[in-house]
Amino acid sequence: MANIIGAVTTSHIPAIANAMANGLEQTPYWKPFFDAYPPVRDWLNEKKPDVIILFYNDHGLEFFIDKKPTFAIGVADEYHNADEGWGIPTIPPVTGESDLSWHIANSIVDEGFDMTVCQEMKVDHGLTVPLNLMWPGHQYGHVKVIPVCINCEQYPMAQPWRTYALGQAIGRAVQSYEKDINVVVFGTGGMSHQLDGERAGFINRAFDIDCLDKLVNDPEALTKYTNIDLVEQGGAQAVELNMHIAMRGTLLGKVTELHRNYHAPISNTGSGLMLLEHEMPES
Ligand code: DHB
Ligand code: FE
Repeated sequence: MANIIGAVTTSHIPAIANAMANGLEQTPYWKPFFDAYPPVRDWLNEKKPDVIILFYNDHGLEFFIDKKPTFAIGVADEYHNADEGWGIPTIPPVTGESDLSWHIANSIVDEGFDMTVCQEMKVDHGLTVPLNLMWPGHQYGHVKVIPVCINCEQYPMAQPWRTYALGQAIGRAVQSYEKDINVVVFGTGGMSHQLDGERAGFINRAFDIDCLDKLVNDPEALTKYTNIDLVEQGGAQAVELNMHIAMRGTLLGKVTELHRNYHAPISNTGSGLMLLEHEMPES
């Protein structure tokens, strides 16, 4: 049986990639952000997961606003990044895991999630920045990654109860996979942030910290929010919290918090880094 051994929430802002490319990690602005990451890196290097299932949102690299799958999953053996206009250097490809990807796609479509299934898919900063944060220097090639993309750019968007249910279906699909492999699930993006408009720069620390608490102990409470609630509480782009909510849905067994850091603002966002350990339920 495949085993989800843990989960991570992390920011994915492009400014992180620029800071890393330019060696700015220990400057006063970035130090409080980057200093939180070594315990999570150490845990990943100790546990050596075979596969990362990574929930992110495509900000326009593969799916522009004219064609937006509500949910998409990659089933390729390799994924490439491309120029997003941030001036970030070209980076190595990301390794895929087509066998488990197809198993998940088949299982969750059978459960009623009408996924867009992508045999080719460019992956943007929402996926590549978190991988580079965990394996700096783009040393992530040994880890197989399954991209799961949730629309957070263009209305209509799936509501939190639905993204949580998607995560639960993916958790069941992993549980029914016959190979003995270890999986870690990433939820990227968030937390409170608004990049434009009247409330540009808006951050709600209390809301973010409450969300982190609920992600550990009371995830069902997060499914009571609508996307408009998330926007009111956390700013226009706080709908990216849906990736954290989907991640938590995959954790069907016992969850223990191993590490947490909240830092804001960092490039106009609230950054929540969390490492959760997970024990699979009896199947
Ligand atoms: C920025 C981009 C993001 O995708 C995000 O979630 C937050 C900030 C940015 O361009 O600064
Ligand atoms: Fe984003």
